[in-house]
Amino acid sequence: MKLEIYDNSDFNRGAPRWKRGLWVIVRGVFFQNPCPWGSAFRSALLRAFGAKIGKKVGIGSNVNISFPWRLVVGDHVWMGDDVGILSLAQVTIESNVCVARRSFLCTGSHDVRREDFKTKVAPILIRTGSWIAIGSLILPGVTIGEGAVVSAGSVVLKDVPANCLVRGNPATVVHEISRGPECAKAYRVSRVCDKSLSPSPDPAAVVEGSPHITKDGR
Ligand SMILES: CC(C)(COP(=O)(O)OP(=O)(O)OC[C@H]1O[C@@H](n2cnc3c(N)ncnc32)[C@H](O)[C@@H]1OP(=O)(O)O)[C@@H](O)C(=O)NCCC(=O)NCCS
Repeated sequence: MKLEIYDNSDFNRGAPRWKRGLWVIVRGVFFQNPCPWGSAFRSALLRAFGAKIGKKVGIGSNVNISFPWRLVVGDHVWMGDDVGILSLAQVTIESNVCVARRSFLCTGSHDVRREDFKTKVAPILIRTGSWIAIGSLILPGVTIGEGAVVSAGSVVLKDVPANCLVRGNPATVVHEISRGPECAKAYRVSRVCDKSLSPSPDPAAVVEGSPHITKDGR
């Protein structure tokens, strides 16, 4: 690639320069430092910058959100310390989602087939009741299905089916999660793997960096 011919002038940042500049200051003072500013206050600031933030959203320290005007968050969502949200495209986090510490939601990439390293962006959708465990990386265009669990340190390249546990790099489906109706708080994880949801990674595909997860878990 030739970075000398990189041209980002057609990228729509979604907000005027003054607003982006002001956000950089607000982010530095109220988000990206260890001061325990309350989550309600942080939520109000995000709303003032165009984010849609629901009720009872917990926002930890040092959370880095690039463009709040491209962020939608439901009710009862937790964002742990050091979470990163590169919201060059829309990021939607539905209700009752936990995004654990040091996880990163990345909507931006570059076209490696182009000499000019063209920027590519795609939205991310985290559906209700899912858990993005510590240190996971969610890549552009991914949807995390309802009730899914992304195990610690996973790199998610493709959509995760609902109610499935995935792990690894690239993340693959390990098993389906069955939550007992008898208990609203706890959940039971089925140890009996449905083979259709636990494919062995194809070594050839791993070498080529091809993802394994598809919407039906195969
Ligand atoms: C999802 C999670 C809870 C594990 O769930 P689990 O199904 O109970 O898994 P277990 O601990 O019983 O481990 C099952 C197997 O998976 C492996 N494993 C567990 N987590 C793993 C991970 N993140 N990556 C790779 N392998 C993992 C274990 O080594 C074990 O392997 P084995 O069968 O060969 O011994 C755990 O992976 C995780 O992500 N924890 C999150 C921690 C976190 O985010 N903390 C912040 C709180 S918000």
